Amino acid sequence: MQGFAGKVAVVTGAGSGIGQALAIELGRSGAHVAISDIDTEGLAATEERLIAIGARVKADRLDVTEREAFSAYADSVVAHFDKVNQIYNNAGIAYTGDVEMTDFKDIERVVDVDYWGVVNGTMLFLPHLIASGDGHVINISSVFGLLGMPGQAAYCSAKFAVRGFTESLSLEMAIAGHPVKVTSVHPGGIKTAIARNMTTADGLDKVTLAKDFDTQMAKLSPEKAAHIILDGVRRRKARVLVGSDAKTLDIAVRVAASGLQRFLPRVLARANHPMPRQ
Ligand SMILES: NC(=O)c1ccc[n+]([C@@H]2O[C@H](COP(=O)([O-])OP(=O)(O)OC[C@H]3O[C@@H](n4cnc5c(N)ncnc54)[C@H](O)[C@@H]3O)[C@@H](O)[C@H]2O)c1
Repeated sequence: MQGFAGKVAVVTGAGSGIGQALAIELGRSGAHVAISDIDTEGLAATEERLIAIGARVKADRLDVTEREAFSAYADSVVAHFDKVNQIYNNAGIAYTGDVEMTDFKDIERVVDVDYWGVVNGTMLFLPHLIASGDGHVINISSVFGLLGMPGQAAYCSAKFAVRGFTESLSLEMAIAGHPVKVTSVHPGGIKTAIARNMTTADGLDKVTLAKDFDTQMAKLSPEKAAHIILDGVRRRKARVLVGSDAKTLDIAVRVAASGLQRFLPRVLARANHPMPRQ
């Protein structure tokens, strides 16, 4: 894809799924890539593929919730590549369970990774992105950052917060006249390991839920998702919807607005809503 040659791109959660596909497509497009993950095995696989492509790559174990380590990492990326143009705050986890079945720590864990991980990456790299003269923050939210869903209060909280943070930052950069574009990304169902990696409330059948996600909800390959995201980045879009499911939901939210709260409970048949399976 054009427009990425010579750019330095940081991708968190690059050991699997969308992050891995983003890193590889960026490498193919001539970008220099700083990849990180807590999963060192997956990270090594991504690094190997980037080396085979001939891309310049720096691979590090990084937990996006560890702010001090993230700060040192930002310095090390700049020292290594001399500049940073783009950060893809992609690392994320999922959790399923109704609020009544959920502990505080379940919500805190999701918000720590999915929201604070994004805030950490954005704020720690922002001075470097501004200094580059051609910066871009790309934050991965979700369709669940557009619409609340039963069983997804923790994940929706984090993904709505990512959207609010990202849209606010976008306006701030424009008003300040900083050379930094900001993009909020909202994928629908993508065929990755996210549901297999998720945690659930006690009593839920995680294997069945993950299977339902893989077979019924996950529509696009991570490669296709990465292509759509990078095309949006190249076109400097403020919001990228990934997949026809995301586009349909976005329209439904805008057209039906609060009417969805009356309408959805009837549509989301209780059978499809995750309930404890004893
Ligand atoms: N797959 C989907 O349908 C979908 C839909 C909407 C949004 N998303 C979002 O896309 C992003 C990527 O998810 P994916 O679908 O590729 O899932 P995935 O599970 O395949 O990949 C997520 C990666 O993040 C890493 N990670 C988890 N916690 C981390 C931490 N604390 N620090 C660093 N890395 C960490 C994991 O090790 C994994 O490699 C996530 O933010 C997810 O919420 C996914």
